[in-house]
Amino acid sequence: MLSCPEVEVRAGFRPPAPVPQARMPGLIRLLATLGRNPLECWSAEFFERPIARVKLPFLEAVLVHDPDAIRRVLIDNAANYRKDPIQRRILAVGLADGLLSVEGARWDVQRRTLAPLFARRTVSCFTDAMLKAADALGERWQRLNPGRIIDVAAECTWLTLNVLALTIFSDGIGSDFDAFRGAMNDYFGAIGRIGLLDLMGAPDFVPRPGRKRLRDTMTYFEEVIDEIIAARRRRLDRSAEAEALDDLLTLLLRALDPATGRPMSLAEVRANILTFLSAGHETTANALAWSIYLLSQSPHWYARVRAEADAELSGDRKGLLERLVVTRAAVEEALRLYPSIAALSRSAECADTIGGISLDKGTLIVIAPYILHRHRRLWAQPDLFDPTRFLGSAKAKIPRFAYLPFGAGPRTCIGSSFALQEATLVLAKLVQQFDIALAPDAKVWPLQKITLRPANGLPMRIEARSTS
Ligand code: HEM
Repeated sequence: MLSCPEVEVRAGFRPPAPVPQARMPGLIRLLATLGRNPLECWSAEFFERPIARVKLPFLEAVLVHDPDAIRRVLIDNAANYRKDPIQRRILAVGLADGLLSVEGARWDVQRRTLAPLFARRTVSCFTDAMLKAADALGERWQRLNPGRIIDVAAECTWLTLNVLALTIFSDGIGSDFDAFRGAMNDYFGAIGRIGLLDLMGAPDFVPRPGRKRLRDTMTYFEEVIDEIIAARRRRLDRSAEAEALDDLLTLLLRALDPATGRPMSLAEVRANILTFLSAGHETTANALAWSIYLLSQSPHWYARVRAEADAELSGDRKGLLERLVVTRAAVEEALRLYPSIAALSRSAECADTIGGISLDKGTLIVIAPYILHRHRRLWAQPDLFDPTRFLGSAKAKIPRFAYLPFGAGPRTCIGSSFALQEATLVLAKLVQQFDIALAPDAKVWPLQKITLRPANGLPMRIEARSTS
C-alpha cells in the first residue's frame, strides 16, 4: 500500500463503477458480460493480486498489475511482448499503415519520424487552437436556452474533433465538418461491435457486424483526406504562403526520418492522419467528459478549478499549462478512475518469467489501467475521487508503473502531452464560464467499448456562470 500521510483523502464521493464480485461469473454469463461491458466481469481478486491467470475454453490470459512485472513487459523485455493479434485485427481496417498498428522496423522509422510532431515544445504551439475550440464550444453553450439539458459527452467529442481539425488541418477539413463528424461516430460505433468475435479468435472470413459499414466509412475518410493532402502539397509548393500553416499536416508532409532523411509515403501520411483522428478523438473526449462529470459532483473541486482558471486564464499564454496545476490534477484523477484505454494487451513472442510466474510462448498478457488504477495494493481508497493524489509531493510518490493512462515504454502514447494539454485548457475554460450540473434523472455508468465512455452519455444542465 502506498503511504502518503500528508495526502488528505477526502471522505465521500465514490463515482459510479461496478463493485467487483467475489467470483468471476460462469462461462455463459462471462461471455455475455465481455460482449456487453468487460469492466463488469473483473472479480475482487484482480484488484488485490499482483498477477492473476484467467482460463477460458478459447483463451488463456495473464493479468499483470505488479509495477515491476509491468516494467518487464513494457520496457525491460518489451521486444518479447508485441501488440497481440486481437488488437491488430480490430485496428486493421484503415489504420494498418499508421503508427498505432505497424510493428518492427516500420514502427521504428515511423516513431522516430513522428516524435517531433508531438514533442512538448511543438504541442505548446497548439495552445491557441485548443483555446479557440473551447471558445467555439462556449459560444454554442451560450446560445442554449437557460437551463437546457444536453449530452456533455457528445459535446466533448465535437470539441476534440474540432481541436484535431484545427491542429491537423488549420485551413479546414475541406468537406462538411458535420458529415466528417458523423462518419467518425459511425466508425467508432462499428469498431465497438467487432470486439467479441475477435476475442474468441474467429477467423477473418467470419463476417463481423458493422464491418461493411466500417469499410464504407474508411473509403469516405480516405477520399476526403487525399483531397486535403493534394491541396496542401500544391500550397506547400508555392512556399512563402505555406510558412503560415504550422499545423500537423505540414509537419507530417515535411517530416523526414532522422536516420535516412526519407519522407513518408502518401499511404503513411494518410494512415497517420486517420490514426491521430481515431486515437486522439474519443480518448481525449472521454477524459474531458469524465473530468467535467467528476467536478460536477464535487463542489469543492469545481470551486478550486474555477478559482485557478480565474487567476490564470487571463495571464500570459506562455507557461499557462504549467500554472493550471489543480485543473491538471483533476484531469489526471479522472484518467485514473476512468482511463480512456481501460486495457492494454500483448502477446509473448518467447517464453519468459515475470513476477515469479512462467509464461509460455504466445501467452496473452493483459495490463488493465482500469484495474491497476484501483488496485488495493497500490492506492489508498482507490475508488474515491481525490485529485490531491496528483498535487505536489503526493504525485511524486506514485510509483511509475502504478498509473498508466498512456501506457509506457516504446509504444507509449505519442499524443499524451497533446491530450493532457487539451483536456486541461478546455476544462479550465468551461468551468470558468459555466455552471454545469448533472441532470436529476441521469444514470451515469462506465462502459468499455474500445474506449471507456459514459454508457448513457452525460445529460447535464448548462448555465452561463451566475454572478454569485
Ligand atoms: C486522454 C487521451 C489519450 C489516452 C488516454 C491515450 C492512451 C493511449 C495508450 C494507453 C496508448 C498505448 C497503447 C498500447 O501500449 O497498447 C496509446 C498509443 C497511441 N496514442 Fe494515445 N491516448 C490519448 C490521446 C492521444 C492523442 C491526442 C493522439 C494523437 C493525436 C494519440 C495517438 C496515439 C498513437 C499514434 C499511439 C500509438 C503509439 C505507438 O504505438 O507508437 N493518443 N494511447
